[in-house]
Amino acid sequence: MTPADFTFLQTFLKTRSGLDLAADKQYLVDSRLTPVARQHGHEDATAMVAALRMGREKALEEAVIEAMTTNESFFFRDKTPFDEFRDRIVPTLRELRSEQRKLRIWCAAASTGQEPYSLAMILKEMAPQLPNWHTEIIGTDLSKDVIEKARTGFYSQFEVQRGLPAQFLIKYFSQQGEMWQINPSMRGMVNYRVMNLLDPFTALGQFDVIYCRNVLIYFDAETKRDVFDRLARQMAPDGYLVLGAAETVVGLTDAFVRVEGARGIYRPNVEVDSALDDPTRLRRQAVASGRDMAVQRAVGTPAAAASAKVLPIRR
Ligand SMILES: C[S@@+](CC[C@H](N)C(=O)[O-])C[C@H]1O[C@@H](n2cnc3c(N)ncnc32)[C@H](O)[C@@H]1O
Repeated sequence: MTPADFTFLQTFLKTRSGLDLAADKQYLVDSRLTPVARQHGHEDATAMVAALRMGREKALEEAVIEAMTTNESFFFRDKTPFDEFRDRIVPTLRELRSEQRKLRIWCAAASTGQEPYSLAMILKEMAPQLPNWHTEIIGTDLSKDVIEKARTGFYSQFEVQRGLPAQFLIKYFSQQGEMWQINPSMRGMVNYRVMNLLDPFTALGQFDVIYCRNVLIYFDAETKRDVFDRLARQMAPDGYLVLGAAETVVGLTDAFVRVEGARGIYRPNVEVDSALDDPTRLRRQAVASGRDMAVQRAVGTPAAAASAKVLPIRR
């Protein structure tokens, strides 16, 4: 592959998937794309890049993008984000949403489904504490292949041994030959769809919790900032954003503030968002900072406090 081919691929991948490919990654491109070139009838990567430049092979474009994504995932990855979900996020939102009894959760880079299914298993375990609640989990990813795998819910012995507690394997999976399949009741808790984070996602509606883990790490600062700002607009003002262990909003955006004592967990920064002429500002600031007494003082009754937190974010 010539330097010009590599530069073309860098631009192609950045504009199509956000991937910010460093100049020293040519070996990675060669090893991942040579098989793709052959599968699509091209002699080598140079011939494949020539075809990409023509812009007429949509299937090839998708295959190149998919081959360059990293789909690594496992159940309860990094543990803490799931402990926080069980011990902090759901209990807090259970109080804040006690009237609506509704929770919407989005895994924005769901890969092969381990992350959304880990959240689904926690919610199932917490079901006695959430009687008559409607919980919805949406899992999206750029890659059709991983979303297809997530939907079918089949995992190898190796995959179910990574992070999944044995009692959850017994309770929520059934063995199918050499594979394990997550039960239909779990599959029914997650809606999957193919979606690129670079594209508009307002149609998904507003979420109480967004897990966007181990994807922004591959993007450059400008792309990260853009995604963060759009995620903030997609969240309830008192919602939670959960990032991967190596990811942060610090230095990129002030649309989120860190939750004290909880690494990788953020809430929308309503100060940024609240224009001085916004009559709901006080209520929203108070709700978002969790000061229930202040909420009640600002808006009157607990019921009014509850309604204050579903106001849409204004920008
Ligand atoms: C390393 S996996 C992370 C999976 C899971 N969130 C976790 O932490 O275990 C990253 C995923 O992001 C997806 N991805 C990469 N670029 C994307 C984009 N622009 N839009 C949506 N998903 C993307 C990849 O296809 C891949 O499945």
